[in-house]
Amino acid sequence: MRWNLYRTVVLTVSDRSARGVREDKSGPEAVRMLQEAGYQVVQTGILPDEEELLAEELKRICDQHLADLILTTGGTGFSMRDRTPEATLAVAHRQAPGISEAIRAYSLSITPRAMLSRGVSVIREQTLIINLPGSPKAVRESLEYLLPALGHGLDILTGNVTEG
Ligand code: MTE
Repeated sequence: MRWNLYRTVVLTVSDRSARGVREDKSGPEAVRMLQEAGYQVVQTGILPDEEELLAEELKRICDQHLADLILTTGGTGFSMRDRTPEATLAVAHRQAPGISEAIRAYSLSITPRAMLSRGVSVIREQTLIINLPGSPKAVRESLEYLLPALGHGLDILTGNVTEG
């Protein structure tokens, strides 16, 4: 297991945080949990809910092999501005639906509102992209379930171990 070496980018997707009218607490919560689990956080950023902008940033990071894992937080709900899943699907080479299914299944044991997140998980090149919902609480709940299983997937994706 070499999961503790994985390079991770955390992108907060929120119009209000991008404008500076709401403090971003979700990105820092993800960073804290990742670092506690031994991941290397190589970049953080705050983007507005603009599909094209997010898709371009995801593409840049994946195609230049700058990260093994990208976590987005926010923009997965039903607001007309929520476009994070669409931007993520637009850059997908392969889908990894089990991860988002697992986040929702676990989150549904905490709140029925978990069904309102449209987040997706995909692979582009050798980077895994996972959409998390926007609240710090949702980030915490998603990652506490996700992180223990994620290392094995990243090991396989990056060729550190063979499947099995
Ligand atoms: N998932 C967990 N684990 N905990 C939560 O509190 N909130 C839900 C859902 N997923 C929640 C959750 C709510 S209320 C919404 S509206 C959706 O995520 C979408 O959130 P977003 O639009 O901020 O991405």
